[in-house]
Amino acid sequence: MAKLRVGLGVTGGIAAYKAVEVMRSLQKAGCEVRVAMTRHATEFVQPLTFRALSDAEVIVDDYDPENSDPIAHINFSQNIDLLLIVPATANIIAKFANGVADDFLTSTYLASTAPVLIAPAMNTTMWEQPATRRNIARLKADGVKFVEPVAGELACKTVGTGKLEDVENIVRQAMWLLSEPGAIATGFRGGRGENHPVGETPTPLLRKEGSLDDLSSERFLITVGGTREAIDPVRFISNHSSGKMGFAMAEAAAARGAEVTVVAGVTAVEPSKHINVVRAISASEMHKAVSERLRDATVFVGAAAVADYAPANVADAKIKKDGRETMMLELKKTPDILAEVAANRHDGLIVVGFAAETNNVIDYARSKLEKKKLDIVVANDVSKPGAGFNADTNIISILTADSADDFSIMPKREAADRVCDAIKRFRGEHGK
Ligand code: CTP
Repeated sequence: MAKLRVGLGVTGGIAAYKAVEVMRSLQKAGCEVRVAMTRHATEFVQPLTFRALSDAEVIVDDYDPENSDPIAHINFSQNIDLLLIVPATANIIAKFANGVADDFLTSTYLASTAPVLIAPAMNTTMWEQPATRRNIARLKADGVKFVEPVAGELACKTVGTGKLEDVENIVRQAMWLLSEPGAIATGFRGGRGENHPVGETPTPLLRKEGSLDDLSSERFLITVGGTREAIDPVRFISNHSSGKMGFAMAEAAAARGAEVTVVAGVTAVEPSKHINVVRAISASEMHKAVSERLRDATVFVGAAAVADYAPANVADAKIKKDGRETMMLELKKTPDILAEVAANRHDGLIVVGFAAETNNVIDYARSKLEKKKLDIVVANDVSKPGAGFNADTNIISILTADSADDFSIMPKREAADRVCDAIKRFRGEHGK
């Protein structure tokens, strides 16, 4: 059987070193990888690194006199089944979008009809620039696919969207494109590499789960972050929720084609601009925002850390000490949004809850599943290192009425994909 051939384009960003891991994973999955770098990329990673690990020449510039093939961009471009760019700078995206062909990689893009998958990584402001948005929209219209960057701490020490997606997710999406010729809308970018020897057509490698649009028929409504319950005009009760896991859920579902609405309380991070976010700061505001939007949803995910109790009376003016040594604050129960959604669910709504515990994690999570009548509960032990509120990683177990899957530590975005897998499976088993 012929190997699937990936042309891996590496451009000049700090995440260029991650392209090495992408190459290794693709090779392990049975692909033949040929690497092309821009000149700027070579300032971050040496071509020799790729050469040593791929055992093939790495092309930097078509016109380099050292290059044995004078029309390498033509030969390279027509002998690949996928052109994958990791990481993609705003500059390469702009050049591709405008048909500029002033180096090897841009000429390859123009000379190829193979599917193209781009994994951008850049500073948040560059990612959100109208010029970058325009270029991406134009490329999408041309049939190019994107593995959107995620939120996190960037090389410039700011926090925001622009971080390269996890290597595993990039590879998964690349493999999916390689495995399903129909995955890309028919048209110019639907072509596969034409030059496989006769009788050696590569066979699909992956099933569709986790693909670019396997949740495209779902509409997610997700609660995210912590709530803030007012005591008086200047004080409140809240918790340590950062919103990272909830936003990771939103981004994972959106990347897999779902329509996503987030109802967010207080969060330490921002989601990517493309996710529709409604702000609702207190438990009762969140309850109202969810009730108003639930009808349209096919999946509800309660990822917010909603306060269970709020002050029974909110003082109109700042409460004064007035010489008191102690003070009583009367609290009253807030509406349990998740339980209410599950109890009044419309046909076909899948309800997913989170259980953050510090002991007897699985037992408590299972009792939440039963008591709140949930379809899926995602449990985690928040006392474990790497699984707390502000961490970028999580250690989850996913429970349904008849299954329990434990996962080891992984980035929250990847954990979110495992939850999406469970939702997809649940839909497959229960229909509607
Ligand atoms: N939840 C909610 N509305 C609330 C409280 C919780 O929607 N008023 C949701 C959370 O978004 C999460 C799940 O319920 O999905 C957490 O369950 P819960 O039993 O409230 O957890 P804890 O607050 O940790 O409860 P307990 O203290 O009883 O363990």
